Amino acid sequence: MAAFIVLLCFGCLALCISSALLRWNELKYRKKGLPPGTMGWPIFGETTEFLKQGPSFIKNQRTRYGNFFKSHLLGCPTIVSMDPDINRYILMNEAKGLVPGYPQSMLDILGKCNIAAVHGSTHKYMRGALLSLITPAKLRHQVLPKIDQFMRSHLSDWNQKIINIQDKTKEMALMSSLKQIAGLECGPMCEEFKQEFFKLVLGTLSLPIDLPGTSYKNGFKARKNIVDMLRRLIEQRRSSTEEDDMLSQLMKAEENRHRLTDDEIIDQIITILYSGYETVSTTSMMAIKYLHDNPHVLHELRKEHTAIRQGKNLEDPITLEEFKSMRFTRAVIFETSRLATIVNGVLRKTTRDMEINGFVIPEGWRIYVYTREINYDPTLYPDPMRFNPWRWLDKSLESQNYFLLFGGGTRQCPGKELGIAEISTFLHYFVTRYRWEEVGGDKLMKFPRVEAPNGLHIRVSSYS
Ligand code: HEM
Repeated sequence: MAAFIVLLCFGCLALCISSALLRWNELKYRKKGLPPGTMGWPIFGETTEFLKQGPSFIKNQRTRYGNFFKSHLLGCPTIVSMDPDINRYILMNEAKGLVPGYPQSMLDILGKCNIAAVHGSTHKYMRGALLSLITPAKLRHQVLPKIDQFMRSHLSDWNQKIINIQDKTKEMALMSSLKQIAGLECGPMCEEFKQEFFKLVLGTLSLPIDLPGTSYKNGFKARKNIVDMLRRLIEQRRSSTEEDDMLSQLMKAEENRHRLTDDEIIDQIITILYSGYETVSTTSMMAIKYLHDNPHVLHELRKEHTAIRQGKNLEDPITLEEFKSMRFTRAVIFETSRLATIVNGVLRKTTRDMEINGFVIPEGWRIYVYTREINYDPTLYPDPMRFNPWRWLDKSLESQNYFLLFGGGTRQCPGKELGIAEISTFLHYFVTRYRWEEVGGDKLMKFPRVEAPNGLHIRVSSYS
């Protein structure tokens, strides 16, 4: 009995302390003019609920507080914005003080010259330098032929094998970029690069705890090793003028009006590798998943690709015209990106107190432009849970204000066409060479990232 009373007292005490802490935290953020919402626990805010409940947490808060509410997520006071017009305004108005708001660990590891860390005129020329690498002429003569060569070889010996398509698409996204950037192909340097790159990616997704053994510390070490490798490559390029890859083009100062320092070139390369890695690999993996589950879509896609192959020799690469003619493939990529929600949203940060949507958002707050729910809005995408690429054949869907699969405004994805070219070429060789079935039982997670925690295994056999 005594034990029960002690327990009860402890329970009541814990309850009192908890509600006092919650109340104190709410009062701390009760500034005039802030949008409605709750701030959760001191320091931790509502991060646990957000990560545990995922999209339902955001949907519940929206039901209670509307499309524009406050919370405290991943260590920062945050505004979640789900209003299409306000989202557009936020993405278009970096100059008014709405700059990228990505976590510190990401910025530290990607480098101080990486595109998300720079603003104003520096952002303009870093972005210009990147875009100059993927002009239509470069796409035709350099980028597409290299992607083609890479995909043929990457997909060459899958027949009669069980493949973890998650691993294969990750490797594909990284190695294809490495070939474009520095002409690197399988070999010891590439292998070393790959290992360090995987550690770097993990580090950017971790808490910035600078202690031995943490993912952050390892990510930082991996960055140092990658920077050393890239510096060596830059030195080699200085003594040889033969190579014609992205690295050489970035270094050709006399030709390049976007002149970059060595440090900027290195961060630019890390940015290109990083930005195209998970987006391209996950979209490719999920396309394979959806095509498997929707044979009528696979049939239509295959028709498009077999028509392209007809009349071509086995060794003929895909041309720019053929890539542009892949209308259904492009639709499959958009539909995959929409239905799987590869990108949940983008983050911004206020650099000063500012008024948005009639509320005053204090300096230093994050704004989560949360685009996930747009993807499942039945008024925009009828029967939204159905994998229906045909909806994208109406080209105007791609130019709608609410189309944010590749971001919007001044930071809209500069690698969009490059990413689509990689995924399209991958699909081209995959569906014309192989048929496949899932081994089955693999779990797929949709939030906070789309991933198969134990891999996605498929049994592959020859199509012909
Ligand atoms: C299916 C593939 C891809 C998807 C879904 C995607 C998505 C996005 C999104 C949503 C943003 C906006 C981020 C923001 O506003 O903060 C973005 C920006 C960016 N993307 Fe992509 N991306 C893809 C492929 C690529 C590739 C292949 C590259 C390689 C060049 C790339 C490079 C970048 C860069 C550098 C930015 C930052 C632009 C800036 O800050 O000005 N992306 N991407």
